[in-house]
This record gives sequence, structure tokens and C-alpha cells, in this order.
Amino acid sequence: MTDLLLPDVELQTGTLDFLKAGPKKLFINNEWVDARSGETFETLNPATGEVLAEVALASEADVEAAVQAATKAFHEGPWSQTLAGDRARLLFKLADMIDEHADVLAELETLDNGKPFRVARRGDLPYVTKHLRYQAGWADKIEGSTIPVTFPNQFVYTRREPMGVVGAIIPWNFPLLMAIWKLGPALTAGNTLILKPAEQTPLSALYLADLIVETGFPEGVVNILTGPGLPTGAAMAGHPQIAKIAFTGSTEVGRKIMEAAANSNLKRVSLELGGKSPNVIFADADMNAAVRGAQWAVFSTAGQECVAGTRLFVERSAYDEVVDGLKTNVEKMVVDHGFAEKVHVGPIITEKQKDRILGYIDEGVKAGAEVITGGEPVENDNGYFVKPTVFAYEDDSLSLVQDEIFGPVAAVTAFDDWDELVQRANDTMYGLAAGVWTRDVGKAHRYAHAVQAGTVWINGYGMIDPAAPFGGYKQSGFGREMGKEAIELYTQVKTVWVNTK
Ligand code: NAI
Ligand code: MG
Repeated sequence: MTDLLLPDVELQTGTLDFLKAGPKKLFINNEWVDARSGETFETLNPATGEVLAEVALASEADVEAAVQAATKAFHEGPWSQTLAGDRARLLFKLADMIDEHADVLAELETLDNGKPFRVARRGDLPYVTKHLRYQAGWADKIEGSTIPVTFPNQFVYTRREPMGVVGAIIPWNFPLLMAIWKLGPALTAGNTLILKPAEQTPLSALYLADLIVETGFPEGVVNILTGPGLPTGAAMAGHPQIAKIAFTGSTEVGRKIMEAAANSNLKRVSLELGGKSPNVIFADADMNAAVRGAQWAVFSTAGQECVAGTRLFVERSAYDEVVDGLKTNVEKMVVDHGFAEKVHVGPIITEKQKDRILGYIDEGVKAGAEVITGGEPVENDNGYFVKPTVFAYEDDSLSLVQDEIFGPVAAVTAFDDWDELVQRANDTMYGLAAGVWTRDVGKAHRYAHAVQAGTVWINGYGMIDPAAPFGGYKQSGFGREMGKEAIELYTQVKTVWVNTK
């Protein structure tokens, strides 16, 4: 392992200038303003624990100011008159700007979140602009319909209209990508937006704000408020003038957002929550592909992914082969800071999250699960690193098997027959994603239909695409992002009756 203390890397001038520019402010009405309370917080580099920037902490008064700006922009400003094609043009231009600044944005992601730079630059960033362009393409294709009603002389049609001010509350695992997943369809459909990045990773969204101004978005269309769940996120969720909250994060906070919505203005809510996704390997699978797939299903982004395939079910006759293969592969994975040349697994986002992961590992060991590999923090650890860990288990009720750990921890178990498999795979409150590896086409589809999950991958794992709907079953949330479903999430249907006689 290279020195974890200070990534010995040359950063882009743009990145250094941004970091040196001093405390970060709130972005309201296309202007940078201090928090009204004057409060700030720090965002850290999880690879080193060092402070990257001081950031304004938005409270109720700042949320109020952003809501006023976004409301005015929605009803009165140039945005309210913008034609669909013009909205698309602005969003395409923003995508081009992001491409131009991709090196800096990727560096900010690695510094603030810890993820391998290679992943940020070749994964997150291209996907950010693919997503934005895909959504922007819908702008002038959002159509209503004409309805043949039972009344005579009535011409009835529908319009798909924007909702108004949308609040986006997002997590830290894909900071810019999550911002764009919400911003893309919200603006495409003609809404205005208040975005709250996660308090652990505010930097890329703040950098984006300048690109938004440069692109030419009118004032008030996008507002960016930094701060923690309390008070910032909660003030948004409870605000009576925010028409919709789009949320990605934990099931626990998703529940609070629904409550706040219910107790304020019954605002619309879409929730993309946690997961504990089952990944199944049948004995007839292409074993090399399956083992590799199972490995990356858990350990990419250090397991801090909502779709992580953390419960691995292996048909008993293939169990030893899979466990041995997994152990060999996982032990070759390099844990290091995100700018290290050969890194596979970066740091955990915070010390708190690291301790939480180690707590689950301890509990698993005490409850009798067997550590196949890993199970401990990385030695000489200045940042927050945990070794990729594989557990073997039998008891489905273990916390290790039921809870979303959100760290590099896989749990492997053997199964004997179909009914047992389907019952155990579905024995979780979550239902975000699932994987299955087999050469038997019929069996693959049978399983895909039986498993309770919003996305199923057959002989693959983890692909998400701007054109393919994505979202949860059960307590993994509701609403579908991506595809044309994303536009439905950010619009409402109006029915117009015309008396033609
Ligand atoms: P979290 O759900 O607390 O944070 C997500 C976002 O919600 C952040 O922007 C946060 O500031 C905001 N938030 C927190 N409390 C809020 C409230 N009362 N009202 C409005 N907004 C609020 O997730 P956290 O604490 O970062 O991670 C805890 C666990 O959540 C993880 O271990 C993981 O299991 C799960 N998680 C799942 C994610 C996913 O992609 N499905 C992403 C992040 C976390
Ligand atoms: Mg950070």
C-alpha cells in the first residue's frame, strides 16, 4: 500500500483554485450567499481525514429564500416561458460544460468521497453527461393524449405539466451523478429545483453551480443548499411550497421525508432507498464470470452502493468453488486512496460509517458467521479503510444478512432447492436489485420473475442506464428514475374538457 496520509498527486489547476477559493457559500437565485445564520461545516477527505473545505450550513431561513427564488422563477421568470426545445438546448449545453470540466469534477469526487479517480473519471463523469443528454432529449416529447369520453360533443385531452419547485435530497456515494439524476428530468419537465447535496460530499455540486450560471440558466431555476439532514433537509421536506421531494438515501430517512410530506402540504415524494440485494449463482453458470461478477457486485465503490449484491446464494454443488474463487480474487484487491495507481477499493466515507461497518462485522463473528477473508480495518490507517470482507453464513436472521451495511462486506450461503432459494432471496424488507448466473435461459427468467426487486441482472451485475427504468420494490422505495418513467416522476397530468357545441 502506498502512503495513505497524503495522496502524492498533481491536481488540476481548476481543482486547486476551487479548493483555495475559501469557504463555500449557498447558491440561491444564481448568486453566492452566506448562510443567514453564519454557520458552516467542514467536508473531509475520507482518505486522509483532512479538511477540504468549509461550507455554509443552510437552515430554515436559507431554505425559505431558496424556495422564494425557485417559486418566482417557476411562475414569473423567463423559465416559465421557456419552450421545451429551449430547455433541452440549455441542458445539452450544460452537459457539454460538464464534459469540458470532467477532470476537475472527477478529482473533486475522489477528494470529497474517496472513490478511485479512475472510477470517477471513466465511470461517474461520462454517465453524468449521458444521463443529462438522455433526459434533455425528452423535453420536446412530453405529450398528452386525447380521450374518447362517454359524453357527446366533448373534446378531452391531457397535458403533462411540471409540478413547480422540486427539492432533491441526495446521498454521498455518487455525488454528482445523483445530483444530475434529479436535476435532469426535473428541469427537462420545466420544474425549478432546490438541490441539497449530502453534507459529506458537497463540492462537486457547488462546482456545478458555476457551470449552471455560465450555461445561461435563468436565476432561481437551480438553487443549491448545503447542510446536513437536520436542519437543511428536514426544512425542505416540511416546506409547504415545495411541490415534490426526490430523495435517494436510507430507508429510515425516506420514512421521515414521507412523514414531513404528509404533515406539510402532501408534497409528492419519490424515494430511492437502500437495498440488500440477492445475487444467485447456479451450478451451471459460467463460473469465472459469476465469481468475478459476484466480487464486483459487492466491492465496487467499497460496497457503498444501493444495488450492492451483498447476499450471495450459491447452489450447494458449486459452493466450495465459488467461495475459493471469491477468496482468491478478493485478496488480490488493492485497498488504497483513490488516486493510487492500482486501487480497487477506496476509503469508507466517514469514520462513523467505518465504525458502523466494523460493528456489523463484530456482530457477525459473535453470532457465529465465518470470516472467509478480511474482517478488519486496514493497518496504519489514517483515513477510513476497511478490508474487503467475505462471510459464510447459514442463519438468514443475522444483522449482517438483514441490514444494509453499506460497506465492503459480502455474505455467502449455500442453497439446495428452488423453493428454498426464492423464499430466502425474498426474505428481506428491501427489493432494489437482484442478480442471477446460469446458462439455463428458462431458469434465469423464472428466477427474474420470482425475485422481488426493481431491477434484475441475468449473467451480469450492476448496469444502470439512462434509458432503463430504475427503482425499488418493498422498502427500497418507489418511483422509477431513468427512462421515460423519470419524466412521469416530475410531471402531473391535467385533463381539459372542451365543449365543442
Ligand atoms: P441518509 O439517508 O441519512 O442521507 C441521505 C441524505 O438525506 C443526505 O443528504 C442527508 O443530509 C439527508 N437527510 C438526513 N436526514 C434527513 C432528514 N431528517 N430530512 C431530510 N433529509 C435528511 O444516509 P447516511 O446517514 O449518509 O447513511 C446511512 C445509511 O443509509 C447507509 O449506511 C446506507 O445504508 C444508507 N444509504 C443508502 C443510500 C442509497 O443509495 N440507497 C445512499 C446513502 C446512504
Ligand atoms: Mg467529504
